[in-house]
Order: sequence, then C-alpha cells, then structure tokens
Amino acid sequence: MGSNFVRHVMETTPYRVTILDKLTYAASRASLSGLEPERCRLVVGDVADAEVVHSLVADVDAIVHFAAESHNDNSLHEPDPFVRTNILGTYTVLEAARAYGTRLHHVSTDEVFGDLPLGSRARFSELSPFNPSSPYSGTKAGADLLVRAWSRSFDLRATISNSCNIYGPFQHVEKFIPRQITNILRGTRPKVYGDGLNVREWLHVEDHSRAVLTILERGTIGETYLVGTGVERENISVLRMILKLMDRADDYFDQVADRPGHDARYAIDSSKLRSTLQWTPQHDDLEAGLSSTIDWYRRNESWWGPGKDAVEAAYGERENTRSDGS
Ligand code: DAU
Repeated sequence: MGSNFVRHVMETTPYRVTILDKLTYAASRASLSGLEPERCRLVVGDVADAEVVHSLVADVDAIVHFAAESHNDNSLHEPDPFVRTNILGTYTVLEAARAYGTRLHHVSTDEVFGDLPLGSRARFSELSPFNPSSPYSGTKAGADLLVRAWSRSFDLRATISNSCNIYGPFQHVEKFIPRQITNILRGTRPKVYGDGLNVREWLHVEDHSRAVLTILERGTIGETYLVGTGVERENISVLRMILKLMDRADDYFDQVADRPGHDARYAIDSSKLRSTLQWTPQHDDLEAGLSSTIDWYRRNESWWGPGKDAVEAAYGERENTRSDGS
C-alpha cells in the first residue's frame, strides 16, 4: 500500500516524499524502482525510533502513516512486532507530529471493528464500536484510539482511514490473492482456509491511494473515513475467478485447516467518503482488476520470486500444526 501510494503521489502531484521504512521481510527496495530520486528519498529506519522519526518530521509538511505489521497469520504466531510497530510506532509518530504541529493522516483497517455474521446485510460505519479479533487488529485498534486521543487532547491535525481488503500490484505473496496467483504460476495448488465461505470486500490498491491522497488534501481534521467498494465476495468465489482467468479447473485447490479466530465477514459503508469528498473507486470490476493483477505477477516474478519459498515454508509448517491440533 505504501509504495503504491508513493507512486501515485509521484504521478499525480508535484510533492516530494521522504519514506521511512524498516525494510522488514514485507518490504523491498525494488518496489520503489523507477521513481525520481530528486523527489523521492528512502530512509531505512524504525518507526518506533523517536530520534529518527523526530529528525524527519522536523522537515515535512505532512505525514502519511502507513507503517505497520499487517498480516493476521503472523500476528497469531508472533505478536511482539505488532505491538512494537503498530502501537509504539504510532505513539512515536504522534509525539513527533505534536512536537512540530504537523498534519497527520493515519492509515488503518476495517478489522478494528471486528467481524459481521455471514449472511447478514449489516455494514460497519465510522461510528461502529471497536471489537478487534486478532493481535494484528487489536494493535491497529489501539493505534487508532491513540490518534483519536491525541487529536482531542492536543488538537493534533489528524485524519484516519479504515479500508477493506486490498489487492493489486506489489502486494506481498503472503496475502490471499497474490498467494494463490503465485502458487498457480509455480505449479502449486492454491490453499483455502476452512470452507472458503468467509467474505471479504475488495478494493484495488490504486483506488486506496486515491482515497488517502483525497483525505490528506481535502478531509476534515478530526474525522475518520471508511474506504470500500461494496464488492463483497466469498474467498472461494474470488479463487474461482482466479482459476478461470488462469485456465485451471475450478477444483484446483486444497482446503487447509482454518485460521484460529478467523473473522467471518467484513463489509463497510463508505458513503461518507463518497458524498463528502467525491471519491469513487475506478476499478469497480473485480474480475478485470484480478486479470490485470495476474498479468502483473506474471511479468514480475523477479519481484516476488525470491521471497516465495520462505513464505510457503512458513505457511506449510503452520498449516500442518493446525491440522494435527498441536
Ligand atoms: O480488511 C483489511 C485487512 O485485510 C487488512 O487490515 C490486513 O492487513 C490484510 O491482511 C487483510 O486481512 P485478511 O486477514 O482478510 O487478509 P488475508 O489476505 O490474509 O486473507 C483474506 C481471506 O482469505 C481471509 O478470509 C483468510 C483467507 N485465506 C488467506 C490466505 C493467506 C485463505 O483462505 N488462504 C490463504 O492462503
């Protein structure tokens, strides 16, 4: 999400960008290749390191806070980096923004609201109570609450966005859609958790970048905006679209043990962002978005290939552990 946003800013604005990134397993310098070095600078460092964050915030007009550990499966296995990066990292950014009076946009997730029952028509809104399920979503909820508290207590000029599930280019192969596409490209069967009936709402990453820039430039200080498409699908139906687009039989997948505490359904009401800031998603056809995403992964094996085996090895270990109950 972060590198896609930087690319969008480079293409559509005259702004200069400084990126602070720890370059953990989830990041890659190659995601920034081709960007003008005069306008886009990468600093390798930790968002929870107050010294580096303060030194960078001193020189900027605005902060867009994307830095997070974001993968639920990893948080179930090892919560520690989630608490450090998502909670302490956000606290560090808030203190720097407070010290310099800097405008802040905080990027978050619909998972802070918990999940909705399958089959219901309910949707989350900006007013829904927080009810996170996993160490990941719990730390994001904690971070959002810190941003709200700093806004109120210190008049920090902050906005928050909570988005639904994202897909598109440059997404790490641990996530559902790129994992299945790259499995098929490697000749391995896709893996579906449980019965595959969990429902997610899907947003193309370019539409997410446009939403964040819109809120940064025109959002009302102190407000939260939900970013979504209304395009809800069961996991199995997304996978069947991918299988069709990649000329595989519709039963070419394995069902593996379910994720513990697996959220049933996410769905959000994004009407506030649409009506007050005139944002609408441009990629509103999921099949077309998946098709261009598949093309991107076909053309960019040099980007995703080097990390793929390690991701699958870790998944293999966890999926075996879950199925034998240990
Ligand atoms: O809703 C926004 C959230 O969407 C973000 O905050 C998270 O950072 C992002 O990871 C995503 O969370 P999910 O847990 O929904 O995404 P993930 O790609 O891990 O899984 C999507 C669905 O697919 C979920 O129901 C679990 C399932 N799944 C996932 C993987 C990796 C499978 O069935 N098989 C898989 O191999």
